[in-house]
Amino acid sequence: MSTLPRTRRFLIISPIVAALIGGTVFILGAGTPSASDDAAVVASSICEAHELRARAAEDPHFKIEIPDEFDQQFPSRDACLSHEAAGDEEAPGPMQPIEFSHRHHAGSFQIDCQYCHSNTDVSPSAGVPSVEVCMGCHSQFSPAYDELQGIQTLREHWEQKKPIEWAQIHRVPEHVQFRHNRHFRAGVACQTCHGPVEELDKLYMTKDTKWWPWGLPTQKLEMGWCVQCHRQEGASQDCNTCHY
Ligand code: HEC
Ligand code: HEC
Ligand code: HEC
Ligand code: HEC
Ligand code: HEC
Repeated sequence: MSTLPRTRRFLIISPIVAALIGGTVFILGAGTPSASDDAAVVASSICEAHELRARAAEDPHFKIEIPDEFDQQFPSRDACLSHEAAGDEEAPGPMQPIEFSHRHHAGSFQIDCQYCHSNTDVSPSAGVPSVEVCMGCHSQFSPAYDELQGIQTLREHWEQKKPIEWAQIHRVPEHVQFRHNRHFRAGVACQTCHGPVEELDKLYMTKDTKWWPWGLPTQKLEMGWCVQCHRQEGASQDCNTCHY
């Protein structure tokens, strides 16, 4: 698979898609004498309107028509692209029930990790945010925002008072004791263990990039991975620090 980030790939692909749409219009136009080849491509959603505008900005011959209802600022183009990338089946990581993007929330909007994972410093588990946390912001969004599938799913859960069943990515076995708060207080950054979360639309367990001094790099979440860092940082290596 290509190493280009999905958003970049989408940006490369979208002109091709737009060209295909344009091409179809042209062929149809050729068949009917009254139609001309400068028929405009009509946007059918806010997200599509963003893409068409971007295309038209590059190519003055590309004619577009944006109906009033789709001529809106939000969802922003960035949000549309992130939503698309977060729902990409081919990207690494499990498919989540909502196309939620960390790049968009924690990256572009710089929402603090703790705002959503508020338990990292107080409880052993970091937890994922509840529907209430999401709706604290999203209940204020205009109805136009509902064109995103992820927002519709979010609203359904809110109305039916159902929790969102996020697929878990990091999990250590029952016999292992892991505590976020100890690491948080010791000043170990989230990214040291979870990678550049704020750059990812769709989360997955990133590879450990650190080259440990003893032999090959260890696999993340394996015992060696924990022990190597504990050895380097002078943290406890006693068996019963991590095992009950
Ligand atoms: C602190 C405010 C805030 C919170 C909390 C928040 N969001 Fe958002 N969300 C935003 C903003 C701002 C945007 C982007 C607006 C734009 O650019 O169009 C956004 C965009 C989105 C989008 C479209 C982009 C994408 O990521 O796919 C989805 C879906 C979404 N939010 C879902 C959620 C879910 C699910 C939660 C809870 C886990 C949540 N949001 C929590 C502020 C928030
Ligand atoms: C707006 C809310 C929000 C913010 C801000 C946020 N997250 Fe998340 N986080 C979520 C949601 C929702 C999930 C579950 C869906 C997913 O995995 O994408 C999640 C999942 C995760 C997971 C995977 C958990 C697992 O299953 O193993 C990690 C790791 C994570 N977040 C780290 C971070 C870090 C680090 C930051 C700050 C750079 C951050 N998050 C900021 C909402 C948020
Ligand atoms: C020392 C490595 C390390 C650091 C630092 C770290 N994590 Fe984790 N994280 C883990 C491990 C290991 C797990 C799996 C824990 C488990 O199975 O109980 C995990 C699990 C998670 C989960 C899923 C928890 C759940 O209950 O579903 C989230 C969310 C998360 N981390 C977010 C964060 C955030 C946010 C930070 C920074 C404040 C952070 N982590 C810092 C190693 C780390
Ligand atoms: C990137 C470095 C790093 C990684 C990876 C790491 N730890 Fe830690 N760990 C630390 C540091 C630093 C401390 C803090 C020691 C202190 O508080 O003095 C710590 C503390 C702990 C403690 C508390 C120790 C005590 O004395 O009570 C436990 C338990 C623990 N880690 C378990 C784990 C487990 C299990 C893993 C792997 C799943 C892991 N750690 C991975 C750096 C790391
Ligand atoms: C810093 C944390 C940490 C310390 C210290 C630690 N372990 Fe582990 N241990 C783990 C983790 C994490 C796993 C789970 C690895 C996995 O699932 O691949 C594990 C797994 C194991 C397993 C099960 C292996 C398997 O294949 O399922 C045994 C047995 C074990 N540890 C014994 C020990 C003994 C004995 C010591 C002391 C010499 C020790 N551990 C010290 C974190 C630790």
